Amino acid sequence: MTARRRIENTTGSYGVVAALFHWVMAVLVIALAAVGLYMVSLPDAGFDTRKITLILYHKQFGVLALLLVGLRWSWRLANVIPELVDHLPDWQKVVARFVHLSFYGLMFALPFTGWLMSSAAGIPVTFFGLFTLPDLAPRDDSLFRGFVEIHKWLGYLIVLCIVVHVGAALRHHFVFRDDTLRRMWP
Ligand code: HEM
Ligand code: HEM
Repeated sequence: MTARRRIENTTGSYGVVAALFHWVMAVLVIALAAVGLYMVSLPDAGFDTRKITLILYHKQFGVLALLLVGLRWSWRLANVIPELVDHLPDWQKVVARFVHLSFYGLMFALPFTGWLMSSAAGIPVTFFGLFTLPDLAPRDDSLFRGFVEIHKWLGYLIVLCIVVHVGAALRHHFVFRDDTLRRMWP
């Protein structure tokens, strides 16, 4: 183990920047999925404004996730990717890398389908009063329903990836007792 954590990644460990990106986005994405699943179960209209308020926050924090994953992916491309611990069988290394890449794909695809869905519904996407995103699709009901469906299934998929990924991380830490979790810690 190195005594001092570096800013950038090394072949043996994630650097401070990658680790901060990881944990900030882990909290953000778990919260977005949880709020997303909860808000769709709320009643649509009436005097209860909880659903509309949560959707508003979900959209803006979803845009934040898109901005962050753009920066994170650029940082990843500019850095070495630490090797996986070597006691793993090859198939588990393939699954681990596949889940990591799926996360990146989903962290881009979820905000984009959310944005497309809002455009097709004719409701613009704003970002905490700072700017409004341009519409990506024309206003169209069947298009809207299609994007809702895709966004929903991508949401279920990221929840599944999170379960597998967290399960694997905990297994490394408590069963194999290796450095996998520690080297992702900033
Ligand atoms: C990483 C980012 C995101 C994640 C993980 C996420 C996840 C989810 C999940 C799990 C649901 C519930 C799906 C269901 O059961 O029907 C949902 C719904 C929704 N999301 Fe997202 N979302 C993200 C980003 C966004 C963005 C950027 C927008 C819009 C700009 C957005 C707009 C919506 C809307 C409007 C709904 C409600 C759809 C409906 O009426 O059924 N989401 N999201
Ligand atoms: C909260 C529980 C979580 C734990 C304990 C955890 C743990 C870890 C660990 C230990 C690694 C390093 C794996 C290695 O060295 O091979 C890792 C990597 C990664 N995690 Fe998580 N994670 C969590 C949540 C999440 C969530 C919610 C996401 C999705 C947004 C995520 C996305 C990623 C990605 C994309 C990588 C690969 C990083 C890269 O190589 O660029 N993690 N995680």
